[in-house]
Amino acid sequence: MSQLDELNRQIAFLASEGNTALAAAQNVQNCEGIRVAYLGRNGKLAGLFRLMPTLTDAERPAAGKLINDLKMSIESSLEAKMAQLAFSEIESKLKADAVDVTLPGRPLSKGHLHITTKTLRELYAIFGQMGFQVVETPEIETDENNFLALNIPEDHPSRDMWSTFYTTQPGVLLRTHTSPGQLRVMREFAPQPIRVILPGKCYRYEQVDATHEWSFYQLEGLAVGQHITMADLKGVLTEFIKQLFGRERKVVFRCSYFPFTEPSMEAGMDCFSCGGAGCSVCKGSGWIEFLGSGMVHPTVLKNGGYDPKKYSGFAFGMGVERIMILRHRIDDVRHFYSNDLRFLSQF
Ligand code: DAH
Repeated sequence: MSQLDELNRQIAFLASEGNTALAAAQNVQNCEGIRVAYLGRNGKLAGLFRLMPTLTDAERPAAGKLINDLKMSIESSLEAKMAQLAFSEIESKLKADAVDVTLPGRPLSKGHLHITTKTLRELYAIFGQMGFQVVETPEIETDENNFLALNIPEDHPSRDMWSTFYTTQPGVLLRTHTSPGQLRVMREFAPQPIRVILPGKCYRYEQVDATHEWSFYQLEGLAVGQHITMADLKGVLTEFIKQLFGRERKVVFRCSYFPFTEPSMEAGMDCFSCGGAGCSVCKGSGWIEFLGSGMVHPTVLKNGGYDPKKYSGFAFGMGVERIMILRHRIDDVRHFYSNDLRFLSQF
């Protein structure tokens, strides 16, 4: 065998060995190893070049070309393999980090109005239809408005109906009911006729339990004019109760006492839960009362700037939480202020 034949054999061998090695290469480092092994200064191709002196002058140019061709072929195979490896590396990285953009997003919870706000708005709508305007009056009140002008003298036993938070300022307190708003409205509008509802927070010095909170909402109503009678009061409250609890309700009025109304009555209805037979909602009585009301006391009219000989009026007041407790069968008044989403999100 001539030296040229031997060279040819080695070239063919290295070409196929190199291709096999490249095909098996898993990563860029493997490729780098192959480059050094074949094309490096002490690599396999350098070994071939070292055979050149053993060839004849006539053989050398062809042999040099053959080795160079092998070199170029290995270089281009390496390049192609590296490119392919780089590509599949990016591809597998992309696959690992992939985000499925077709998956539905997590919905944002939007929240909603508090049950108290919703209920108040329902009450405003019912009284709004009957011509009542919403007026808000201050939560910090004078003893004068909260008690004295409402015909509740100092040291009078009826003050026991309201346990009061006093401030360090003499004569200033947190209103115990929305009734002092009656005086504010009367003093502002006298001698014009009035038809308003006064919603708002009230405060009482209470031992907190399932039925008592130290802060709660009331809704007060007041109508003053020259021809207002108890029939108007009964009509308004009857319509209100039927709109809120159902047309089929039987409305009941019972004599009561409040210092600022004369006569006074308590209003309510037959129990919507048992229809009057007696159950836990009505505490066995068959009736539910939840409204204080009456004809505005002449003294209160006078304190508000109206002549009781010419003007008359009716007033009523109710606890908003009490209404919500009844309508939604809520067992504890403290839920309204505890900000527990498990409770609030039910409404
Ligand atoms: N202010 C009373 C209370 O807090 C409720 C009330 C009773 C209001 C009779 C009225 C009324 O306007 O006429 O207990």
